[in-house]
Amino acid sequence: MSTAFDFTPLLPTGLPAPAIKWTGSPKYNFTGGNNDSDELPLDGLVAAADAVLKREGRTLATYGLASGPQGYRPLREFLVQKLKRDAGIACTADEILVTSGSLQALNLVNGVLLTRDDTVIIEQDCYQGSINRLTRRGVNMIGIPLDRDGMRMDALSAALDDLKRRGIRAKYIYTIPTVQNPTGSILPETRRAEMLKLAEAHGVPIFEDDCYADLVWNHQRPPALHAMSKSANVIHIGSFSKSIAPALRVGYIVAPWAMLSRMLAIKSDAGSGAVEQMMLAEYCAPHFAEHIPELTRGLRKKLNTLMEALNEQFGTAAEFEEPKGGIFLWVKLPDSVDTLQLYQPALAAGVAINPGPEWSVNKPHSRSRMRLCFASPTHDEIRKGIATLAEVCHREFGVPTRISNVKRG
Ligand SMILES: Cc1ncc(COP(=O)(O)O)c(C=O)c1O
Repeated sequence: MSTAFDFTPLLPTGLPAPAIKWTGSPKYNFTGGNNDSDELPLDGLVAAADAVLKREGRTLATYGLASGPQGYRPLREFLVQKLKRDAGIACTADEILVTSGSLQALNLVNGVLLTRDDTVIIEQDCYQGSINRLTRRGVNMIGIPLDRDGMRMDALSAALDDLKRRGIRAKYIYTIPTVQNPTGSILPETRRAEMLKLAEAHGVPIFEDDCYADLVWNHQRPPALHAMSKSANVIHIGSFSKSIAPALRVGYIVAPWAMLSRMLAIKSDAGSGAVEQMMLAEYCAPHFAEHIPELTRGLRKKLNTLMEALNEQFGTAAEFEEPKGGIFLWVKLPDSVDTLQLYQPALAAGVAINPGPEWSVNKPHSRSRMRLCFASPTHDEIRKGIATLAEVCHREFGVPTRISNVKRG
């Protein structure tokens, strides 16, 4: 009998902790950035894949198709139109790099700009994937508090002044201005102008992550920071994960060629998945604009179900600001609740939540907060999942004390 080869002594130090094996989805899954499977435009995607592969499939024999290393040209051309129409961005297909999800975009931007002990400015409550990447690179994060209109400009101004006093130039201001993750706020145009002014005054670029920008309930978003900048100091990234499907792994970067060329030089995968890009371009050019209102209508209904369920099950023990779009609700529970401690017993009861401290650089502030994704569970799962969560929370922390105005037993 042979024994398994031991690779452990060969592993270099400093690797991240091993991944946990996937054991299936929890019954009530409020985690992650998953989409609503009912809203996936499956028939349209199937027809698009069929048409584009029949027409151009033989280009798959070449790395980068017939489009070169920046990604399938018709997809970049669709993005030029879409970004102009929706976000006011004027760019050319040559200023776009298609990536394997916007996670790769984060890696590439960080890869060309950051080194250990650098400083960046980010929103205090922020996307875990961004926080983790910065932590792993040994980068110092300055968290700026948010209010219902996104990043607070008084706090940003103070932080930039403080850094200046200390002789530190931040590498960038990272922001998710259009449906912030996790708070769901939208930075108004006036604040965008202020942010650009501060960024220019301090010589700090802006890193704009517009991951959720397609999912605004009233479809009226302010222009992108990239569109408003007069000095090309904004790197803009986006994704098809939230508008079409996360498993496709297609995102993009819009940046001046001087920066894009540095990123392309470290994008070492010889191109992102081609069939996904071809299918998206074929589907999106004629159908994207009509798909979005259908998707957001469905998401908005699920948000209503979640807010109703929280009001019924938690009453005043669950506080939240209604998000202006997206797929998340950022919920504040009473101070006595530690959501990191709530996580395990909730999971044991079949309910998965994202504990606040994993989505924030201010751990005391986020201790009693949690992020709930309402896109992928069904309406029924949302209701039952929140009822179960309230039971677990009551058992572990003594709150909520009432359900539908009746004292819990
Ligand atoms: C703010 C933000 N940026 C980037 C990403 C990465 O998304 P993807 O790689 O699927 O495009 C996410 C995913 O949830 C996100 O929330």
